[in-house]
Amino acid sequence: MTSQVRGGQLARLLGQWHALPGRRRSPDYAALAAAVRGLLADGRLPLGVRLPAERELAEALRISRTTVTAAYRELRESGHLTSRRGAGSWTMLPGGHRVASSGLWTPQDDLDMIDLGIAALAAPPELIPATRAATEDLPRYLGSAGYHPTGIIELREAIARSYAERGLPTSPEQIMVTNGTQHALDLVLRLALAPASSVLVESPTYPNALAALAARRARIATHGLAVDAGWDAELLLGSIRQSRPRLAYLIPDFQNPTGHLMPAELRERVVGAAHAAGTDLVVDESFVDLPLDGTPLPPPTATFDRHSRVITIGGMSKPYWGGLRIGWVRASAPQVQRLAAARIGVDMSSPVLDQLVAVHLLAEASTIVTARRTQLARQRDALLAALAERLPQWRVAVPRGGVTLWAELDGPVSSALARAAEEVGVRLAPGPRFGLDGTLERFLRLPFTLPAADLVDAVHRIAAVRYDLDRAGRPQWREPSVIA
Ligand SMILES: Cc1ncc(COP(=O)(O)O)c(C=O)c1O
Repeated sequence: MTSQVRGGQLARLLGQWHALPGRRRSPDYAALAAAVRGLLADGRLPLGVRLPAERELAEALRISRTTVTAAYRELRESGHLTSRRGAGSWTMLPGGHRVASSGLWTPQDDLDMIDLGIAALAAPPELIPATRAATEDLPRYLGSAGYHPTGIIELREAIARSYAERGLPTSPEQIMVTNGTQHALDLVLRLALAPASSVLVESPTYPNALAALAARRARIATHGLAVDAGWDAELLLGSIRQSRPRLAYLIPDFQNPTGHLMPAELRERVVGAAHAAGTDLVVDESFVDLPLDGTPLPPPTATFDRHSRVITIGGMSKPYWGGLRIGWVRASAPQVQRLAAARIGVDMSSPVLDQLVAVHLLAEASTIVTARRTQLARQRDALLAALAERLPQWRVAVPRGGVTLWAELDGPVSSALARAAEEVGVRLAPGPRFGLDGTLERFLRLPFTLPAADLVDAVHRIAAVRYDLDRAGRPQWREPSVIA
């Protein structure tokens, strides 16, 4: 990496810095500082490089040295430059940020940053005792090599039991343990999809599912969900019947990001239409354990399946902890065998110790999950109240489960808002991340997985920058890179 950038090189990178779009009547030094910040945010100017001496840059840009001095001072004050007297000035980012390999900013151990890009709770207190108990169980497994491509039997039994308790008889042979739900999806897609196959997804949908589909070069069609009403039965069934996709990926239980719950009748009709069309259904149940307000759950989608059309995926991340990386697939026993054979060429099997931790957590499911639901309902209500107070012009449907709400904004400003919010310490996942082709600019996903005080603080900050957006034009920052 270059350790020093010369005056001529920086001048070239800066280009038309004095005439950047959005510049109003700011002084030259402020425009120059803003342009340097823009280059850093875009990853075009690396971190830790020495900038040209003030005189050299002034000559290269044909401006006065005092302008460069003032710009460097502003960059030092905003945390983008560090200087040592007599030695020079080096580029940096404020607040412990770093630039990811993608060139986008990611917050790193930045305690001031309120991260609303990730919709997942911190670990429950039961995790440490469960881990201790798991280590005590471990000796039972140490006499073998420890590879269990479908998962250790006691975890598969516990997962199968949880389906049976929901009214869906399931044998352990129908379960394969994976390293998280995302891994489950990736494996299922590897097996089910030839390159360029057609796939139907909801819009909006879970961004990492879109990423997994893109990796298989799927041709993606969407079914649009309404903010208030969710799925439109006739349109959804019509798309399956008419376009006969190879596969449909759906999140019927507290859909991410909208929070909608698909009614039983529609589940049954979707399974019927999929069977008739030769479409496999991948049903993501990530949020099924998290109904709020005592909302009753419809039967699992796979209940209506008579022909092994439905592959269900789920995991521990939302009700328990994402860091555990335990998920699973529920399918027919032959499908599980094929998936297990496929995973041998990928990651062989999941860690035994983590699976044992999952066994202990599932043994206490009702206590843990009840506490999670109470916590989530409280946080959701705090978020809704703050939105009603500070951003009453936004439209939100109250989610009856899951961990996110989907807000309809008062204009197509989601990405601009995310960039502006980053500057005031709030990380957002803007609407377009949940769709294709840069649509959904009028929407924003807000998770309620952080403590209520943080959510309220975040809404206050978002409301402040929303107001500024109208007054000051759009800021130049990029959107966050990790959404989950
Ligand atoms: C719908 C959906 N599927 C899958 C995942 C990934 O879950 P895991 O952490 O189990 O891989 C998430 C996480 O946000 C999700 O919302």
